[in-house]
Amino acid sequence: MKILVATNNQGKLREIEQIFGESFELLSMRDVGLEIEVDEIGETFLENAFLKAKGVFEASGIPTLSDDSGLCVEALGGAPAVQSAYFAGYPTNNEKNNALLLEKMANAINRNAKFVSTVVLWFGENDYIIGEGETTGKILDKLTGEGGFGYDPLFYSNELNCSFGEATSEEKNKISHRGRALKSLFEKFQERQK
Ligand code: IMP
Repeated sequence: MKILVATNNQGKLREIEQIFGESFELLSMRDVGLEIEVDEIGETFLENAFLKAKGVFEASGIPTLSDDSGLCVEALGGAPAVQSAYFAGYPTNNEKNNALLLEKMANAINRNAKFVSTVVLWFGENDYIIGEGETTGKILDKLTGEGGFGYDPLFYSNELNCSFGEATSEEKNKISHRGRALKSLFEKFQERQK
């Protein structure tokens, strides 16, 4: 079965390939010559994942897998959440986002945080599967590690006992919010095939 992955992020594509690669023929937006940008104007990860999956499905006619993810910090009332990519404004800038997070967390005692991911596999109106995943950690008081992307150098993983910036991609993928959301979606897909 062919599935179109609604992302231009190569890191996400690789992660999805590791989990789905043997079961589906995965197509990227580039493979099908699509260059659409769907505005992520939803108030929840699920709303945004639906917007992307639906938008790309309507343009392509191919079952579409989309994801939306972000960081939720307890001391900031759950922010930046769906605003994670644009925490410090537009256009998205990881360095500015991390600098703003450090500033807002400068005096915070509660440093608990989690990454959250929602993935949707859209086959058509009223025909879709949802997968959700989380991974917990703490916000560090300085950038730690060179790897990963986004907020990874500021996120100390409770499960890996190091920052996501210090972890290898294999280590991170095993326990990541996106990895978990994708696995949960895949299990539901297998149930549906029975
Ligand atoms: P997206 O909308 O799912 O592409 O992601 C929103 C934003 O959340 C990204 O731009 C990152 O700032 C942040 N984010 C999501 N997942 C991760 C992750 O695994 N590591 C670090 N930052 C992440």
